[in-house]
Parts: sequence; structure tokens; C-alpha cells
Amino acid sequence: MTSYTLRRGAPERTRADAVVVGVVHTPHGPQVAAGGEGVAAAYGRRLAPLLSTIGFSGKLDEVAKVPTAGILRSSLLILVGMGTGDPADPTAVRRAAGLALRNVSNAASVALALPAADARLVRAVVEGAILGGYAFSAYKTGSPPEAPGEVVVLTDAARSRPAQRAVELARAVGEATALARNWVNTPAADLTPVLFADAVVAEHRSRKPAKVPGKVGGKAPGRVTVSVLDEQRLREGGFGGIIGVGRGSANPPRLVRLDYHPRGAAAHLALVGKGITYDSGGLSLKPSSGMTTMKCDMAGAAAVVAATFAIAELGLPVRVTTLAPMAENMVSGDATRPGDVLTMYGGTTVEVLNTDAEGRLVLGDALVLATESDPDVIVDVATLTGACSSALGDRVAGVLGNDDALVDRIVAAGARAGEALWQLPITEEMPQKVRTRSDVADLMQHNVDTWGGALYAAAFLQEFVGGRRWAHLDIAGPAFNTRGPYGHVPSGGTGFSVGTLVDLAADLSGDLQGGA
Ligand code: BES
Ligand code: ZN
Ligand code: ZN
Repeated sequence: MTSYTLRRGAPERTRADAVVVGVVHTPHGPQVAAGGEGVAAAYGRRLAPLLSTIGFSGKLDEVAKVPTAGILRSSLLILVGMGTGDPADPTAVRRAAGLALRNVSNAASVALALPAADARLVRAVVEGAILGGYAFSAYKTGSPPEAPGEVVVLTDAARSRPAQRAVELARAVGEATALARNWVNTPAADLTPVLFADAVVAEHRSRKPAKVPGKVGGKAPGRVTVSVLDEQRLREGGFGGIIGVGRGSANPPRLVRLDYHPRGAAAHLALVGKGITYDSGGLSLKPSSGMTTMKCDMAGAAAVVAATFAIAELGLPVRVTTLAPMAENMVSGDATRPGDVLTMYGGTTVEVLNTDAEGRLVLGDALVLATESDPDVIVDVATLTGACSSALGDRVAGVLGNDDALVDRIVAAGARAGEALWQLPITEEMPQKVRTRSDVADLMQHNVDTWGGALYAAAFLQEFVGGRRWAHLDIAGPAFNTRGPYGHVPSGGTGFSVGTLVDLAADLSGDLQGGA
């Protein structure tokens, strides 16, 4: 386990295997970013020629390792490019710290001399370091790369209470994001709905506060309860969406529920995450090129579960009810057909037109169940539509909902967490289409018109929230990275939205220390 500590001190005199500084790209050449002044001073007039010799200009994602030959206490200097933006922007800092940790090899200790003057920046440095140091090596033979034992963040704020709280927040978010990434990266054969539900229960067990002998009860914060509905319960309960999607698979569906109910909760947040452990498309089969990454189709479920554990670990005074419907969308003689009608939980009937639009079916059931616990706010997270990534690319999630103030708060939470979200509208014709296009059922599952797929999908989900304040995050783009690592974001599962959800919970609970 890597330790993350704050320390006041001069980077040029810090004893560590490697020291990291940021470099900004300016029209006047590369410039060392705040936090690295001491290193720049130690090099003095040797710095500019050194950077020029190795061709380092401070462009985004540029990285160089320089032996210090006694100029610094540490023998290795790692330079990370921060581009042309504001180097004191937490997003740039998170990225720089991530880039650095992604590039250290065999250093037992690393000192980060990046911009870290206040709690916001401290959080960004620690989060970036944790996220950039992430590696998924469960399926690689041979010994995994060794993570540094100690990461020291050099900051004048080392002793301030907000900075220390920022480290706690960053650790909780960073570790929860890593947990979500691990689940997303696990091949679907090893993360069927049953195995995913088991994994959540196992994670819950491993997090239970150890009973201290002599102390009964223990503190309320951190207490989460978990329960799982199996396929028989789901069938008996009338969860027609989850059963309908899961029936083509040899691996039966599950519905996982987490409850975190701290004393004095300021608000009640319901989280719902799409947990399709593999999406072949069903009878509306995907082309093979569209299937290769579909183990990622449970990223929403992974994110809401991991975020719930982080919220509880931080003891945020907000009640959280989390539902993760899990099913595998496969093909068989018993699979749901295009043209079938499903009766969803709560009784609404839906005409299925395209079995590849399965996410909205499992989410519909879970959203209705979520309303039964009477939450103030419902947020669902789903790798729902390719249309959303066509609109926003693979680094930005879409947010849609029935309450602009809630959407704004989510976008703001994302900005603090370093996750980009952009509002898309639910235009008035969409609910109209959802409600009127089917001749046989209450709702039409799928938009037969080519465009606006993300909007239609959200309008469909809206039918199941019972008029409650609700927002939907479509993470089909940013959940899974196939275009190579950058900054703190690795290839494969990204854990996108964990940070945003934790920050939203902090906002709802009135605890934004270490946040904005
Ligand atoms: N899981 C996919 C969406 C997706 C696509 C996630 C790419 C991640 C990357 C979803 O179930 C799906 O197949 N959606 C269809 C909907 C269509 C049939 C209305 C899509 O986007 O094409
Ligand atoms: Zn699909
Ligand atoms: Zn899907």
C-alpha cells in the first residue's frame, strides 16, 4: 500500500527517489510551475539549456526523466508537461500528478512539487497520483510493477485542516475509482451478474469496520448494508425489465442494493447504475466490432456502488440508497424478441423494438424501486447510448434530467472532481414519442428515428421516476478508454463519475471542505 502524506519542505532538499515538477508551455519557452521554484533555483541558468537539449517544451502529457547529478537531493527529476492552460487549475494538476505516477518506475519514494497551495489543489495532486498509479495486472503473468511505498506532496498547506481533509477525500475517491476500474476491466466471463453481486458483497464485508473488543456498536458512519435479489425474487417481484434482458443468458440476473443511512442525514440520494455485465445486443445483435468493449456495460453499476462505499467511508451526512440491476444481454432460443412486450416493475408495459437498447429496461425497474424509498434526488449512471458519445466524444458525459438546478449541481460537482459533463436537453417531443409510438404497449422502448438517441433514452427513463427530482448521466463515451492513456486516465475502465457522485453527495450534505 502506498502512503500519501503532506509535507512542508523545499523540493531541492527533499530526499526521495524521484522529485516531480510541472512545466508550463509559454510563448517564451517552458516555465517551471508553482511548487517547483526551488528546483528551478537549484538548476539556475542550467535549466533552460537542459530543457532545450532534451527537447522538453512543457506541452500537455510530455514527460521526461532527468538524472540530477547531485543538483538536487533526489537523484531523479521527473518533468511533466502541463500545456498552455492555467497551471493552478486543479484539473491540470490532477492530470500532471497522474502523468508523473504513470511514469515512475522502481521508485520507492516520490515527492510531488506541483502546484498545491490550497486544499483544492492538494486534493487534485493526491487524486491524480492515486489514479495515475493505477494498473490492472490481475490477468498478466509475471510480477506486477511495484508501486512506490511513499508519495509525499510538498505543500505549505501541509498542516491545515482543510488540506488534511482533502487528502481523506482524495484517498476515498481515488480508491473507489480504482475499485470501479477493476470491476470494469474484469472480463465478462469472470464478472457475470452473480459474480458481480458476490464481488460487491465481498467488498462490503472487507470494508466493515472491525469490531474493537470491549467497544459495542461502534460509530454509525461507515455503516452500509447490502442485499441482493436473485432471479427468483426478481421474477416474483415483477421486475420484467431485468428478467426480460437477462433471459437470453445462461447467467441469471441480480439486483444489488446498498443502504447507507447515517444519523442526522441532511438529504436522501438514490443512485441507480446500469449493470449489464456483457452487452452482445441480444437478438438485435451488435456487429463484432461493437462488441469488443462491451464488458464495460456495467460501468454505471460499478461507479454507483464504489461511490457509495466512498461516501460512507467519508462519513458524509447524506442518506444513500443505491440500486444496481445486473444482467447479461445475450442470445438464445429463449431470449426476448424485438416485438415482445415486457411488464416493468410497477406495472408499466413496454414494447421492445431493439434488444440492444437493454439498459433502459433494467434501469426502468430499478428507478421505480428507487422511488419507493422516497429519496429527495435520484441520479442514474449508465453506459446508455452510442449516440451520446457521438455527440460529446469519449471524454465528456451527457447529463439529462427533469430539474435544471440538479443538473447544474452535477456539472459543478464534476468540475470539482475533474470530470467533464455536459447538459443535453430532453426536448418536448421525446416524452411524446415514448408515450405514443407503440400500438400495443404503454411505452415504446426504442426511437425508430435515427437522431437524438440519447435524448429519447433519457425521456424513456423519465417515465419511471414518478415525477421526482432526477438526473441521468450517460457515460457511454468516457467509461472506457480505447484511445491510449492520458494524464491520470488509463486505458480500459476509467471509473468515470465516481468522483462526481461523491462530490455531489458532499454538496447535498453541506460538506464541501476539500471540495470547491
Ligand atoms: N451499451 C450500449 C451503449 C454503448 C455504446 C456503451 C458504446 C458504450 C459504448 C447500449 O446498450 C446500446 O447498445 N445502445 C444502442 C441503443 C440503440 C439500439 C437505440 C446504441 O447506442 O446504438
Ligand atoms: Zn445494448
Ligand atoms: Zn448496453
